[in-house]
Amino acid sequence: MVKLIIDGQNVEVPENTTILEAARSMDINIPSLCYLKGINNIGACRVCIVEVDGVDNMVSSCNNPVKEGMVIHTNSPRVREARKTNTELILSQHDCKCAVCSRSGNCTLQTIANDLGILSIPYPMKVPPYKWSPRSPLIRDASKCIKCMRCVQVCDKIQTLNIWDVEGTGARTTVDISFNRKIMDSDCSFCGQCVIHCPVGALSGRDDTPRMFEALANPEKV
Ligand code: SF4
Ligand code: SF4
Ligand code: FES
Repeated sequence: MVKLIIDGQNVEVPENTTILEAARSMDINIPSLCYLKGINNIGACRVCIVEVDGVDNMVSSCNNPVKEGMVIHTNSPRVREARKTNTELILSQHDCKCAVCSRSGNCTLQTIANDLGILSIPYPMKVPPYKWSPRSPLIRDASKCIKCMRCVQVCDKIQTLNIWDVEGTGARTTVDISFNRKIMDSDCSFCGQCVIHCPVGALSGRDDTPRMFEALANPEKV
């Protein structure tokens, strides 16, 4: 077991527990976006950062294990400021039209931005364009993708279909169908696992409600 202090409280957790899981075991909530327990711990979003006494840089809590004697601050002014900046940077590459988003009200990014009191984005907006096959029952909106890689890992590790992959480098890094395929030419089973695990509205199911009403109003079909 490892003994440490989080936000002034003593805690003892098994070795190799992450700082995030140790905090959550004490009902201390550290926000997270890209982390998915046992599936994705690449430390991409950095909204889960915490301050550790004696360590200069902020530490991502989702992929760093606890160490004996650590003293951790999850909600200090420095942590809140850095977390806010990291979230604002994510939002600057995100189409933030919450009112017309399928995930509004059930979106981790929206919740974190609200909790941090973000009401404006002090960085130039760079939102990638949206292009997708209208034939696909699974919709991907690149303008909302925060590049958390959850979809890639869920499809690889749970469905073992490897449909998604990282594309591009540096600022142009994004996620798309692997091997430069189109969604309708891939082996996607449309199971919906990636949609469920996307923390924002970048993946969704096509809304066929208007087509259904059209069919219901057609006496030749009903
Ligand atoms: S994905 Fe979330 S933050 Fe982005 S527009 Fe939709 S609800 Fe808003
Ligand atoms: S589509 Fe969703 S799950 Fe996949 S990388 Fe983008 S935000 Fe993450
Ligand atoms: S949740 Fe830890 S870096 Fe994204």
